[in-house]
Amino acid sequence: MASNSDLVALARQRLYPNYKQAPLVFVRGRGCELFDVDGRRYLDLCAGVAVCSVGHAHPALARVIADQAATLMHVSNYFYNEPNIRLADELCRRSGFDRALFCNSGTEANEAMLKLARHHFFGLGQGGRVRVVAFADAFHGRTLGALSMTGTPKYREGFGPLGPVTHVPYGDVAAVERAMGPDVCAIIVEPVQGEGGVQPAPAGFLAKLRSIADAHGALLLADEVQTGIGRLGRFLGSDVSGVRPDAVALAKGLGGGFPIGAMLTTEKLAGALPPGTHGSTFGGNALACATALAVLRIVDDEGLVDGASTKGDALGAMLQQLADDLPDVCEGTRGQGLLRGLVLRPGLVARDILPLIQEAGVLVIAAGEHVLRFAPPLVVSIAQLEEGVRATRRVLSELRALRASA
Ligand SMILES: Cc1ncc(COP(=O)(O)O)c(C=O)c1O
Repeated sequence: MASNSDLVALARQRLYPNYKQAPLVFVRGRGCELFDVDGRRYLDLCAGVAVCSVGHAHPALARVIADQAATLMHVSNYFYNEPNIRLADELCRRSGFDRALFCNSGTEANEAMLKLARHHFFGLGQGGRVRVVAFADAFHGRTLGALSMTGTPKYREGFGPLGPVTHVPYGDVAAVERAMGPDVCAIIVEPVQGEGGVQPAPAGFLAKLRSIADAHGALLLADEVQTGIGRLGRFLGSDVSGVRPDAVALAKGLGGGFPIGAMLTTEKLAGALPPGTHGSTFGGNALACATALAVLRIVDDEGLVDGASTKGDALGAMLQQLADDLPDVCEGTRGQGLLRGLVLRPGLVARDILPLIQEAGVLVIAAGEHVLRFAPPLVVSIAQLEEGVRATRRVLSELRALRASA
């Protein structure tokens, strides 16, 4: 077998260089552990960016994927397939929504919500309602519609003209009210901003957005690509605040590593995208849907939604202790459930610290400039969380000593 460095050299020659990738080539995983091509073990506390909800190579999930692949993978949306129908039913039952539209990624789920909002008003004869109110630092994806709603300037720069979206500070109710107008079709919000720095919505914020949207006759859309499927300790992140959006976007944890996205919405909006207005060749194929059904079964069987709440609280306490013990490198912690951030002091760039934590055998990721993000598989154990926080503590302590001596 080729070595890690041989493969990294080939990757650097042949892969399109749009990512800044760590020089690690993984070949195998089990639960929360990953093994690189040289056989080194890493504790995975990022789950492929909050994706591998049931861990790597879960035997029940692998079995379903193999069986479904050997039975039926794809027939297109010209026909029905049973896993697709069953998954729509399961998602609606769990979430309280009425309808599911399937796609292949979080970006696509957000595009579907944007098209839903615009076409809903088009159908009502209000085709001028095209503008969206979104938030600074929001991340909704990279295609042009989703990018229009994404709030980070560095992702948007050079890709204009983008769609009409007004970005206001996250949590600022007055700014949302000021941004509303007769041309607004929707407000889009993440219950916790993931990429934007693990920033939970202030208490009551989602409820306020609900009432502002209602007052203006606009839709409230929740991007739950990162927060959905139990990560915050409830099936949907918006369940934490008890707010019911008009539609939610799901992806990431839904497939446990297999690409699938979904938009869930209400019966009231079922007519907004009639046949011919939106679709996807691969969206909702039998293999992806059987996989997601198996993920939901595992999530139930292993109590992973409640587990995300209790283990998330434990992780939050461990990180808070770390922040309290190392106040000159850590500013604090934030997050909910198993989506947690350790906020570093200004001057410390999270991305620069990741390689040191990797070197210590643990994988976490950055969120924004100054936040180390912990989004482990939901199957993580308390002992694994302790191991990860211990390694992070070691690295940050060394860094503090270096800074003190400089
Ligand atoms: C909240 C949120 N929305 C959308 C996306 C985009 O999802 P995808 O990369 O599956 O297209 C992400 C990805 O990080 C996300 O965190």
